[in-house]
Amino acid sequence: MPRPSTAELLRYAVDLVREAGALAHTYFGRRDTLTIHDKGPQDLASEADLNTELLIRERLRRDYPGDAFLGEETGITEHAPGQGIWVVDPIDGTQPFVSGLSAWCVSIAYVRDGKLELGVVNAPARDEFFAGGLGIPATLNGTVLTPSRSTTVRRGIVGVGHSPRVTPARFLALLRPFLEAGGMYFREGSGALAICYAACGRLQGFIELHINSYDCLGALAVAQAAGLRSNDFLRGEGLRQGGPLIVGNEQVFAELDSFYRQSIGAG
Ligand code: IPD
Ligand code: CA
Ligand code: CA
Repeated sequence: MPRPSTAELLRYAVDLVREAGALAHTYFGRRDTLTIHDKGPQDLASEADLNTELLIRERLRRDYPGDAFLGEETGITEHAPGQGIWVVDPIDGTQPFVSGLSAWCVSIAYVRDGKLELGVVNAPARDEFFAGGLGIPATLNGTVLTPSRSTTVRRGIVGVGHSPRVTPARFLALLRPFLEAGGMYFREGSGALAICYAACGRLQGFIELHINSYDCLGALAVAQAAGLRSNDFLRGEGLRQGGPLIVGNEQVFAELDSFYRQSIGAG
C-alpha cells in the first residue's frame, strides 16, 4: 500500500480531533460528575481523559493499523525505527478542564521517519481549531496564521510552562534572566494552546524546561508550519522522555535560548 501523503493524513486528523473534541466537550459540560484520579502533584486525570484517548486510539487502530501510537493515558505501543507514530494528548490542560476554565484542548500529532509531519489542536470550549504540517500552512479556524514579528521579549508576552517535573530552583533560574531582560510571562495551564498562541501572534513565543511529546507536538507542528523556530525537540529521547522546548521567531528564539543557557549555567 502506498504511504499516505501528509495532506491526506492531515485531513484525517482534522476529522478525528473534531470527533474527539466533541466527546471531551460533553464531559466538560458535566465535569462535576466525573471521577478524578490524582496521578501526582498537579497531575490529574478523569474518565474524560481516558475515554477521549481510547476513542482516538481505536479509530487509528482501525484506519492506520500499520502505525504506532503514543498517548498520555495509555502509553506507547511497539514502535520500529521509521514507522509512523501518532502522538496524542486527549486533554491538554486537565487542571483548567476540571476547574471549569476553557484553556484545554485535544492534540494529535504525526511523526514519520523521525520528522514531525503534522499537528491538529482543537479547543472546543473556545471554538478554536489549529492545524498545520510540513508544506501545509498553519491555520486557525481555516485562516492562515501570522506569528509576531517582534524582535524582543520586552514588547509582548511569552508562554512559560512549568510542572513539578522541574524543581522550583531550576524554574526560577530561568525566570530570573527573562524578567531582568524585561520579559513578561503567560501561563493558563495548556502548553499546547500557548504554543498555538505563539503561532498566531497572540504570544511572542513559548518556553518550558521539560514538556512531554504528547503535550507539545501537535502545537509544535502548527508553530513550525507558521514559520517559527524551535530547538530540535525530537533529537535523542524527546519522543519518549520529553525535554526542554523553546519556540519563537528568530530573534525571540535567540533571546529565550540565551535565558535557557544562562539558567543551566551554559551561557
Ligand atoms: C500539562 C500542560 C501544562 C504544561 C505541563 C503539561 P496536562 O499537561 O500542558 O501547561 O506546563 O508540562 O504536563 O497535564 O494538562 O495534560
Ligand atoms: Ca493530558
Ligand atoms: Ca498535556
